[in-house]
Amino acid sequence: MNDQLNEARQRREIGQIVSGSLIEGLAMKLHAEVSVEDIRAGKFVVVEGDKSEFFSMITDVVLSTSARGLLDNPPGRENQLMHQVLSGTTTYGTVTLRPMLMLPKETAEKDLESNLRPVKTIPGHFSPVHTADARDVSRIFGDEGLDPKYFNIGTPLDMDEIPVCLNLERFVERSNGIFGKSGTGKTFLTRIVLCGIIKNRKAVNLVFDMHSEYGWKGSFEGERVEVRGLKQYFGDRVAVFSLDPDSSRRRGAPIDFAV
Ligand SMILES: Nc1ncnc2c1ncn2[C@@H]1O[C@H](COP(=O)(O)OP(=O)(O)O)[C@@H](O)[C@H]1O
Ligand SMILES: [Mg+2]
Repeated sequence: MNDQLNEARQRREIGQIVSGSLIEGLAMKLHAEVSVEDIRAGKFVVVEGDKSEFFSMITDVVLSTSARGLLDNPPGRENQLMHQVLSGTTTYGTVTLRPMLMLPKETAEKDLESNLRPVKTIPGHFSPVHTADARDVSRIFGDEGLDPKYFNIGTPLDMDEIPVCLNLERFVERSNGIFGKSGTGKTFLTRIVLCGIIKNRKAVNLVFDMHSEYGWKGSFEGERVEVRGLKQYFGDRVAVFSLDPDSSRRRGAPIDFAV
């Protein structure tokens, strides 16, 4: 079983930690063979410390050099050999990481939840860093296949095959907000999260739906295409109350109660 897991692993070492602080985050020197253009902000990586693994997010990428003078007199674009000679040693990428969670190494799979901790220290010099794979992500966020309390809400940036789950039981115990600039997907995400709560019967929701986005239907890319609302997914497990039944009728949205 473990061999199978290891074979399926898609981790790739991309660099090593060269400096950092708890407050400012970690600086990783990128390995010579990894292109800075493959490093995207928002991507998840794992730093392998001596005692713990640090689950981290890429927040910044910097072009660095060990020879300041070189920048005053850069090799021309036709001098490819020079570019190759310098690359990875004299010129290299430095990537800033924000550690988010730490997990003691050797933690048994069944004890994951109680051992995942907020970051209170940082990994030592030269700790290796690798990209997170599906198993790293599922160890942190849970796996829908293991327990119905985990609900898949999407995939991380740039990691399209890797599901990220929300622990619905913990989620409904506390106050939550979904924040972001307009058009970044708050309404869509809210609808997905509500679907999870209803589907897995974790809580009852009272939704104040000012713009009629959740009840019967929502819109995709500014009204052109429609997406189904909660009522269309869950039928009689959702009741729609309307303050303006005429408007609902005009929009062709069935309601259960006029208030
Ligand atoms: N998970 C998603 N899958 C596909 N398209 C999405 C998703 N989330 C957002 N979109 C697209 O982005 C647009 C804006 O999303 P929306 O949730 O309305 O943003 P917000 O509420 O943050 O202003 C949607 O109309 C849709 O076209
Ligand atoms: Mg919105």
